[in-house]
Amino acid sequence: MKHLISPLDLSVEELDHILSLGQEIMKNPEKYSHICEGKKLATLFYEPSTRTRLSFEAAMLNLGGKVLGFSSADSSSAAKGESVADTIRVISSYADICAMRHPKEGAPTVAAMYSEIPVINAGDGGHNHPTQTLTDLITIKSLMGRLDNITVGMCGDLKFGRTVHSLINAMVRYPRVRFVLVSPNELKIPDYLRKEVLDAERIDYIETNQLEKYMPDLDILYMTRVQRERFFNEEDYIRLKDSFILDASKMQYAKKNMYVLHPLPRVNEISTEVDNDPRAVYFKQAKMGVYVRMALIMNLLELD
Ligand code: NCD
Repeated sequence: MKHLISPLDLSVEELDHILSLGQEIMKNPEKYSHICEGKKLATLFYEPSTRTRLSFEAAMLNLGGKVLGFSSADSSSAAKGESVADTIRVISSYADICAMRHPKEGAPTVAAMYSEIPVINAGDGGHNHPTQTLTDLITIKSLMGRLDNITVGMCGDLKFGRTVHSLINAMVRYPRVRFVLVSPNELKIPDYLRKEVLDAERIDYIETNQLEKYMPDLDILYMTRVQRERFFNEEDYIRLKDSFILDASKMQYAKKNMYVLHPLPRVNEISTEVDNDPRAVYFKQAKMGVYVRMALIMNLLELD
């Protein structure tokens, strides 16, 4: 049985297959509208979410399947002290596949050990978020026609932002991908990513706190929110939250064909005046998340 816990659980070939299937579904959604009839997806969300949970549910409904689940830890038996291992053993007999979001890093890995159905990590603490990565990759591939030979700027909270960690892990496997990592000093990428991934794979990257300076080099700018819920104290959050705000004046430095992505939710880091710029694609990106999750569900249920 297959699970998706880290983006590295998929080989580049499997990843490309899921992205192509997602693009095919996008073109012809009707063709896939009955493929999961009789199947159920459980969404086990111990942490807040809008897009990820609802896009999983929309994906399963679009495939003709059904959904069940809970959307906060307090409304599940976790509030009574039940372990993830016990919960998943039970859910295994209620559903055919599940998506789990949890504040503890590694919780979906534990679930996969005890599960009899495929487990999808829908975000674990500050660690990984592989289905957001699928969403990011299908967006980049659809807009640029490729995933290699790209300069990707990542800006904001690179320390706690799990979407950043997963996207770096996935993209380093494509040739000639360069990273410009823009953050305040305190919010730089974790050491393990720098040493074990970027340095170990000899990836071309720089770490900086100057967004404007590198703006003209970028093909993609991946903006992220400062992850308030993972800070140890509120003062640090308040001091750092508005370190980088993308606005129309900064967009003037960018290429005409650069794209701005954001996993959303946005707080302050992209001024709403940027929304009407044709290079702002974050709402389009959220829409593509449904198609790629449809492809993933089909793949894990071996219906592709
Ligand atoms: C992201 C997450 O949950 O990590 N949101 C999402 O799934 N689209 C990003 C975030 O919360 O900042």
